[in-house]
Amino acid sequence: MAILVTGGLGYIGSHTVVELLNNNFEVVIVDDLSNSEKFILKNIEEITGKKPAFYPFDLKRKELLTQVFDAYSIEGCINFAAYKAVGESQEKPIDYYENNLFSLINILQEFKTRGLSNFIFSSSCTVYGQADEMPIDENTPLKMPESVYGKTKQMGEEILIDFAKAYNRKVSLLRYFNPIGAHPSSKLGELPIGVPNNLVPYVMQTAAGIREKLSVWGNDYPTVDGTAVRDYIYVVDLAKAHVAALKRLLSNQSEESTIDIYNLGTGTGSSVLEVVKAFETANNVEVPYKICDRREGDITVAYANANKAEKELNWKSETSLEEALRTTWEWQKYLNSRNN
Ligand code: UFG
Repeated sequence: MAILVTGGLGYIGSHTVVELLNNNFEVVIVDDLSNSEKFILKNIEEITGKKPAFYPFDLKRKELLTQVFDAYSIEGCINFAAYKAVGESQEKPIDYYENNLFSLINILQEFKTRGLSNFIFSSSCTVYGQADEMPIDENTPLKMPESVYGKTKQMGEEILIDFAKAYNRKVSLLRYFNPIGAHPSSKLGELPIGVPNNLVPYVMQTAAGIREKLSVWGNDYPTVDGTAVRDYIYVVDLAKAHVAALKRLLSNQSEESTIDIYNLGTGTGSSVLEVVKAFETANNVEVPYKICDRREGDITVAYANANKAEKELNWKSETSLEEALRTTWEWQKYLNSRNN
């Protein structure tokens, strides 16, 4: 019995593959390497001493996907494969809808016809938009996200809910807050293509001298220091939540449909400047920054109430912001050593 992990060489996917292998799951990775690199597979093997099956193709190629389902006894899927750049999604909406939704539907067609269940979907706290109250729990009303990227996440959730209900299958929708950090081995981490959009990769590259200065997008928000607040969750903790969610689905014997929904965050909000300071303290480096205007589309504050995940998955975030940011810096050093 194997778990299909799409996008398994990507940032969260690769960390989750390691946790699955450490928990003795057989893993089959499909990843088209559009936002990942082949050396990550070798590094997964070095970390775990195990060799997951790997197929480099685009999930829109349905005939290749069918061959994978023919070749393995798949008992579940964790679907990470998706485009994820918020800004780019506004410029290339059709590419985002095509990639993120067609790939999902192709997998679900296989699941439907083969009677398979246990599907875990990478969702995002973006489905809540700017929530009226903090912290955000799973009953917080959803708002149609502003970005096309966010819309593909909300549509993906709807598709899975309909799939579960119509065919009595089990699905888990995991709403990530802001994932950060790298594997403690320094062999896995986020590989930003070009100029990073996200805060922590930009901080990392600024500290490394690749970028001159971090632009802090706005210091006039009604927050502790005027900069926007997010819930930064350590990627290894996040990866472990996937294993817990999968085990819960697998042990659920119900013949009825199951739709598990979890917010995955730390429960604590940190401002942009708090993240900068924590990075500097954790790594004893300087992060030059300048204050700029707000970034369009940004919300003021988002942090999770992750009590449901703690109660039902027996999972909670264990790693401090500083520790997560220490692993980020170690990862940058590893990337530097690869480039030299
Ligand atoms: N920020 C800066 N400077 C930068 C980058 C970011 O000040 O160079 C600030 C942003 O304005 C924001 C905070 O840092 O206040 C976090 O920004 P990120 O881009 O790292 O993360 P977001 O919260 O904007 O976006 C993340 C994910 C998206 C997801 C969204 C849901 O990257 O995939 O959360 O809220 F859709």
